[in-house]
Amino acid sequence: MDDDTNTREASAIAIADLTFAWPGAGGVCLDVPDFKVSRGERVFMHGPSGSGKSTLLSLVAGVLEPGAGRIVVLGQDLAALSARARDRYRAANIGFVFQMFNLVPYLTALDNILLPCRFSCERVSRLEVPAPAEARRLAERLDLEAGLLDRPASELSVGQQQRVAAARALIGRPGLVIADEPTSALDADRQQRFLDLLLAECDAAGTTLLFVSHDHRLSRRFERLVELRDINHVGRRAPG
Ligand SMILES: Nc1ncnc2c1ncn2[C@@H]1O[C@H](COP(=O)(O)OP(=O)(O)OP(=O)(O)O)[C@@H](O)[C@H]1O
Ligand SMILES: [Mg+2]
Repeated sequence: MDDDTNTREASAIAIADLTFAWPGAGGVCLDVPDFKVSRGERVFMHGPSGSGKSTLLSLVAGVLEPGAGRIVVLGQDLAALSARARDRYRAANIGFVFQMFNLVPYLTALDNILLPCRFSCERVSRLEVPAPAEARRLAERLDLEAGLLDRPASELSVGQQQRVAAARALIGRPGLVIADEPTSALDADRQQRFLDLLLAECDAAGTTLLFVSHDHRLSRRFERLVELRDINHVGRRAPG
């Protein structure tokens, strides 16, 4: 096994020579020569609004495809997968708390939490209890009252939706959890409890956590802080 392969296997995320430009947006948004996150590591990423944090997370999740470069997630080169295989890989291995939650509005909170289990047998196979019981356990730990679980997601408050999105990301112990401003709609007390749960669940499952937030009060709970501009070299390379 060569050094490069060793490094990739030790990494939950290994990015090399990545560039990405939004079509029609007038220029490169991301230029990341090298960024790695170790397995089990908890990383807090921050940076100004519009700097490309959510874009980077979507690339790591395989929702977007890079213009150039390589993204290896939990040992899998995303470019080696077809779009369908990438969707399956994501469902099995990556829990994503989107900035806008992306819940299915007409499904109940419980069915939203269970969605990854519908799309991935791997998620189900990692459960020690039936999926609905695990969904209820996560919901309870996130302070979502049992009565809320039977309501459509569209009838929940923004903070409740955010917690449903977190439970959906965590169910079935994915190897990587990506969270994009997951506490923005929560009050200070709930933010801390939310983080307690997220970190405890990630610890218990050996899950790697890439957490984006503007709230620096939360950063002290993380092993590593990354400012996006320290890894994103947009505008820095010499011409030619
Ligand atoms: N769907 C899209 N189409 C075109 N351009 C986009 C799209 N989404 C984001 N962008 C552009 O890409 C850049 C980075 O946006 P992104 O959402 O990744 O920033 P961010 O760091 O997550 O910001 P915030 O902290 O406000 O969430 C911005 O200039 C934005 O306008
Ligand atoms: Mg964002």
